[in-house]
Amino acid sequence: MVKAIVVLISGKGSNLKSLCVNDLAKDISCVISNNPQAEGLEIAASAGIKTIVLDHHDYFNREAYDLALSAIIAPFNPSWIILAGFMRILGANFINKFPQQIINIHPSLLPAFKGINAPQQAFNAGVKFSGATIHLVNEDLDHGHIIAQGIIAVNNFNCYNELIKATLKIEHYLYPLVIKKLLNHQYKLIGNKLKLKVVENLYHHETILIAF
Ligand code: GRF
Repeated sequence: MVKAIVVLISGKGSNLKSLCVNDLAKDISCVISNNPQAEGLEIAASAGIKTIVLDHHDYFNREAYDLALSAIIAPFNPSWIILAGFMRILGANFINKFPQQIINIHPSLLPAFKGINAPQQAFNAGVKFSGATIHLVNEDLDHGHIIAQGIIAVNNFNCYNELIKATLKIEHYLYPLVIKKLLNHQYKLIGNKLKLKVVENLYHHETILIAF
């Protein structure tokens, strides 16, 4: 059976775990890590998912790495390449090989607070709302078309560590939800935009406001 998803990771793999506990391990053909020490590799292995390490230190530059990565992914013929804490920028050549198929999750309400330590950036900026964004990946960092966002009020949190935890909780709820809609073909591609088919565009889950 062709499995629809390849997941790319670099670290802890808590988002990968959220996919596994939400019955998506069966849809993942392979988990690829650029970091040989990534804890997520063990999560994948214990869920019975094939793992591959492609260490970026073994490659001369980004293009060479991206080329090797796309060559590994292509035979799996995935419908979706899911970035789950993959801490590398993917170049245009890679992205153009998988148009509108690469999805990322970022721990802020994009376009605010791109890059690393996004919840810290949000907390320190004193914003009243923060959250997580699922988006299509394009050549610019944390910049592609926004598919879904989960929003929480920040004023309940005393420090950015609390905001980091709350943001991860949103991610772990939202990513499996969105990916299931993709696998069930509950979306429309309009040019370079992806719109989920949903009953309601806006709804609550616990303290999270979800917007599609
Ligand atoms: C998450 O906050 C995700 O939004 C960001 O990197 C972090 C990865 O966490 N892209 P994990 O490896 O899934 O635990």
